[in-house]
Order: sequence, then C-alpha cells, then structure tokens
Amino acid sequence: MSDYILGIESSCDDTSAAVLQDEYLLSNVIASQDVHKAYGGVIPELASRSHQLNIVPVVSEAIRRAGIQPSQLSAIAFTRGPGLLGSLLVGTSFAKTLALSLGCPLVEVNHLQGHILAGFVRQYDKPTPVPSFPYLCLLVSGGNSQIVRVDSPLSFTILGQTIDDAVGEAFDKCSKLMGLGYPGGPVIDKLAKAGDANRFAFAKPHIPGLDYSFSGVKTSLLYFVRDELQKDPAFLENNKEDLCASFQKTLIDILMDKLIKAAKQTGIKDIAIGGGVSANSGLRERMVREGEKRGWRTFLPEFKFTTDNAAMIALAGYYHYKNGERCHLDVAPVSRAAEL
Ligand code: KG4
Repeated sequence: MSDYILGIESSCDDTSAAVLQDEYLLSNVIASQDVHKAYGGVIPELASRSHQLNIVPVVSEAIRRAGIQPSQLSAIAFTRGPGLLGSLLVGTSFAKTLALSLGCPLVEVNHLQGHILAGFVRQYDKPTPVPSFPYLCLLVSGGNSQIVRVDSPLSFTILGQTIDDAVGEAFDKCSKLMGLGYPGGPVIDKLAKAGDANRFAFAKPHIPGLDYSFSGVKTSLLYFVRDELQKDPAFLENNKEDLCASFQKTLIDILMDKLIKAAKQTGIKDIAIGGGVSANSGLRERMVREGEKRGWRTFLPEFKFTTDNAAMIALAGYYHYKNGERCHLDVAPVSRAAEL
C-alpha cells in the first residue's frame, strides 16, 4: 500500500506544500512573496505575515491537486529549520495542528537535507536519473554554500562550507549594491549572458581545505565599483553586463575549484548540485563541462526543485517516516542548522 506524505515548507519567503505518493510527486504548490522586492531583501516580519495568509490555501490546493482526502495522509513532514524563526513557526504550528486534528504522524525535516535530496523526487510523467551513493552535492543557496558527501538519504557529511557569506548572499548583496534589484541571482545571471566574463577580475579567497569564503569577492566588487564611479558616474550603467559576467564567473570559479578538489580527494564521480543558486545558468554549464572533462556523472535539478519547495521536504520526510522517525507535538522550530 502506498504512503501519502504531505510536505510543508516555510523557512524563508516561499510558502509551499506538496504531496508525494511514496517517492512520487502528486502536487507541489509554491506561493512566492513579492512583498520583499521593494526592500531589496527578505523582511522577516513581512515573511511570517505572508506565510500566515498563504498557508491554508497553499496546503488545501496541494491536497486537492494530489486528488486525495486529508484522511489518506500517512504523515505530515515540515521544515523545522534552519531558516527565519517567525516563518518556520507558521509552518511548524500549522503542521502540528493538522497532524493533531487528523491523528497523523508528524515528521521534522532539516531544510538543507531537503535541498540535498531534491534531485530524488520522482515524477510519474518523466523518469529522473538519480546519483548513486555515495555522491557529492554542492549545496548553494541564499543561506548556505556547502560540499556534502551523501552516503544514503539519511546519512550525509559536510566536507566544506562557507566561513562567512553564502554564495546566494553574495549574488543578492552585490545586486543590491549595483542597484539591480532582488533577488540578485536571477538578475545577475540574465545580465551576465550579454557580458564579457573576462573583462574585470575580482579577488579570490585562499581558504585552506574545502571551505569557502565569499565576503572578500563582495568587498572587492564594492571597492572597484566605488572607485570607478568616482571617475565616471555612468560606469555602472554602461558596464553592468560585463560586471555581472565577471562577478558571476569569479563566484563559479571559487565554487568549482573546491568541488573539483573534493571529487579528487574522495574519488567520487557522481556529482549533484542543489539550492537556489543551482538555477544559475553559468554554474549549470560549467558543471556539465567539468563533468565531461573529468568523467563525472553530473546531476542538475529541474528548475522547479532548485529554490525552496515542499516536494523536497516531503521526500526527506518520507525517508525519515520509513525509518520509523516521528516527532512530538512539543517540537519547536530552530533558526540555525547547528541546533538541529
Ligand atoms: O534555496 P533558496 O531558494 O533559498 C534559501 O536560501 O533557502 O535560494 C535563494 C537564493 C537567492 O540568493 C537567489 O539570489 C539565488 O538563490 N538564486 C540564484 C539564481 N536563482 C536564484 N543565484 C544565481 N543564479 C540564479 N539564476
């Protein structure tokens, strides 16, 4: 008999609910919050208020599209963290209440594990190639930049991570600085396509091991743009494509250098990416190119599974559920990954 898992995601600025039939996706509904655009970044208080407005229609729609009754749910999986506490509270409280009213088991999910497993969500209408264990996952989002060794759906080790900003944060902050809008990743990605990536050079960090650092590149861009603007007030406007292309290339070089190092050190050749920044066209192209050169099997998630979505949360929840893991109604969300 099939298990039906409802996943609920509310860690940042997307309210999402999804229903899986075992590992297969039946529905995945996402309500993104445009309210933050005017501020150039996510405003936590506005995010929680939007989740509060969206959560009931989003969950109802996910169950309706799945074509099941709430009473058929085997478990409710929710993102416990990391993320914005007020936002997580909305999803957590809703998941607890629904589980209580349906008499259904509750399963907590680490948001990062969701991103790592996003590529394993199966779809009835298209076969999805999946990596073999162990594989390496480059997890790149607005809050994280990590190289993770994944030994099974429930067992993974962080081999390296950022010691300061996340790569998505670097995209977002530098976009704001150049007056290009929020979220910065998609804007920079688009402008970069029309630019010369070798025109400008930005400082690259020298961090030992497999850890990353992105705050220096950000500062390097900041000082460079500031100095050029003093000489020519139209510098930014006239050079934004080249600036975006060169900046994006620098970030991709930094990401790939450590990923290649990790692949060499571990001997692992199944390589995946996940998280919001894995939507970046430059990074995706580079992954494919390096993969071909190095004999990797490269796994790129579909765009709909790159940013925050509940399908990946439901899938991680499914594995925990099958492993017999349940959580109690007194569970509280946590903002930091280290607390999970
Ligand atoms: O995973 P995600 O939706 O949220 C969390 O961080 O949890 O990632 C959002 C990040 C933002 O920093 C956004 O700028 C970045 O993903 N992003 C991109 C692209 N699309 C989204 N970065 C680079 N290129 C893109 N095409």
